[in-house]
Amino acid sequence: MTGATGGFGRLIVFRLAGAGWDVIAGARDTGKARDLLAEAAARGLAVRTVELDVAREDSCRRAVEECAELTGGPWALVNNAGIPQAGAVADVADEQARRLLEVNLLGPARLCRLVLPVMAARGGGRIVNISSGLGRVPWPMGAWYSAGKHALSALTHCLRVEAAHLGVRVSLVEPGAFATPMLGRALADLDTVRDPANPGYTATTKLFTAVDRRVPGPEPVARTVEKCLTARRPRPRYVVGRDARLLIPLHTVLPLALSDRVKHMVTGLPHTPAPPAPPAPPAPRTDEQQAQQAQQAQQPKEPA
Ligand SMILES: NC(=O)c1ccc[n+]([C@@H]2O[C@H](COP(=O)([O-])OP(=O)(O)OC[C@H]3O[C@@H](n4cnc5c(N)ncnc54)[C@H](OP(=O)(O)O)[C@@H]3O)[C@@H](O)[C@H]2O)c1
Repeated sequence: MTGATGGFGRLIVFRLAGAGWDVIAGARDTGKARDLLAEAAARGLAVRTVELDVAREDSCRRAVEECAELTGGPWALVNNAGIPQAGAVADVADEQARRLLEVNLLGPARLCRLVLPVMAARGGGRIVNISSGLGRVPWPMGAWYSAGKHALSALTHCLRVEAAHLGVRVSLVEPGAFATPMLGRALADLDTVRDPANPGYTATTKLFTAVDRRVPGPEPVARTVEKCLTARRPRPRYVVGRDARLLIPLHTVLPLALSDRVKHMVTGLPHTPAPPAPPAPPAPRTDEQQAQQAQQAQQPKEPA
């Protein structure tokens, strides 16, 4: 289980451990891992942790090896770790985009690659990749996050077919917005890359703040992950949350031009270029210029 110290992560760990699963919680921060263990102990749950930074190949390899030593090999992998990267395409630097893809796409892909042989040797297993409603609905001012989740979705659907003969069942979970620290992190991104001339930043900050106040708790996501692991035939994809269940079909049926209009309205991004600034008024003439002009007017014109 990756990203076990986050909003969804903690809840999934506690739910699965409570149901009797032997959960190995991946955490990149040892302090947060200690807090997780303490909270699990307080709830009377047995949880073990491994150090895991999904953006680092060596860390992924070590964590899978450690997990195999502890359990004989993971039967299931839940790719949950993720980061946001809000901001307009024009303002997000290569380095920030690369970081997002490393955590949200390459990390999950490499963990799948590392666990597949172990699962195959055990005669089967489960992989659950946590995407997002925005992995189906491209969202302006969050383009890199949307792009990473779209790519994770494509990868998951391909892997499901590739891994079927190994007895490994692969599911994609697509949550809408839920109350976790993720939205706060996205708001912080907006401040980091903000272009003051772009009205999309002000509107998106207001939108995220409003959403953050109203979003439901993340329990439905934890319930869905458990379903992916316990169902005899897990579904290829699970859409979780009212907003995602509404937005995804709407985006599928709306013509792109109409969908663009809605996105312009919601993100505050102008639909047409701003009108050109009116020409500056002529500077008032000096006394000297006025006298010169009067003199020119009095001079007789030369015959043609
Ligand atoms: N919350 C939502 O509304 C929502 C909606 C749709 C999809 N999702 C997806 O759900 C997943 C979990 O999100 P969340 O809402 O629970 O976010 P969160 O509270 O911010 O938790 C994210 C978790 O990922 C971990 N993480 C970040 N970078 C990592 C790395 N390089 N290696 C290992 N772990 C790393 C974080 O660890 P640290 O604490 O050490 O940073 C944290 O434990 C993400 O994939 C997210 O995209 C969330």
